[in-house]
Amino acid sequence: MISMVVYIIFGMMGFLILMSLVWRFSKPHPCPVWLSWLVEFDNPFTRANRSAVIVENLNLQPGMKVLDAGCGPGRLTIPVAQKVGPQGEVVAMDIQLGMLDLVKKKAVNISNIQYLNAGLGEGKLSHNQFDRALLITVLGEIPDQGSALREIFDALKPSGMLSITETVFDPHFQKKEKVIPLTHEIGFKVKSIIGNRLAYTLLLEKI
Ligand SMILES: C[S@@+](CC[C@H](N)C(=O)[O-])C[C@H]1O[C@@H](n2cnc3c(N)ncnc32)[C@H](O)[C@@H]1O
Repeated sequence: MISMVVYIIFGMMGFLILMSLVWRFSKPHPCPVWLSWLVEFDNPFTRANRSAVIVENLNLQPGMKVLDAGCGPGRLTIPVAQKVGPQGEVVAMDIQLGMLDLVKKKAVNISNIQYLNAGLGEGKLSHNQFDRALLITVLGEIPDQGSALREIFDALKPSGMLSITETVFDPHFQKKEKVIPLTHEIGFKVKSIIGNRLAYTLLLEKI
């Protein structure tokens, strides 16, 4: 009986590792809705991608307007909406309607979230409206990263901040050595970097 349980556990681990390898080396595509539960976990081995750390690092104030781009099931959307309060607003944007439905289910008592079912880079965001933007483990799923970052840059107010988080546990992990030059090209300036080799959060300012 015990050996069967061990076989099942190792089989499942092998399946997950295989899937993650196939995913990492195939062309970018969005994390499927049925795997959203994986996105919800705060990984115990990393700090920089924990929701509380990301939110704290944003220096949010009541009344701010925030874009959660690639919000997924709303791991960050909900605490950010609570932090900016009823005078503030969060735009939860995702290319998959199923992810927005998951956020809506969680946000039953929260009225300051707007939902936008669109892909970054499609030009759906109007300019100079956000104080903060989040791009948390999303960048690697986007084929045209330049256009996506440009759209966020334009949608931020002058001196607005973009927070980018990446973790090696995501099959679409993007190294900061690649991400930082890309953001410089668009016009962002690095304000701070927290984390380590396993996960990092970049705070970038629109200048
Ligand atoms: C790994 S999940 C991260 C979710 C959330 N940011 C978090 O950290 O909990 C990535 C999300 O980005 C979304 N996504 C992928 N490409 C996108 C695009 N071009 N525009 C908007 N959302 C996108 C996916 O649908 C998915 O919900």
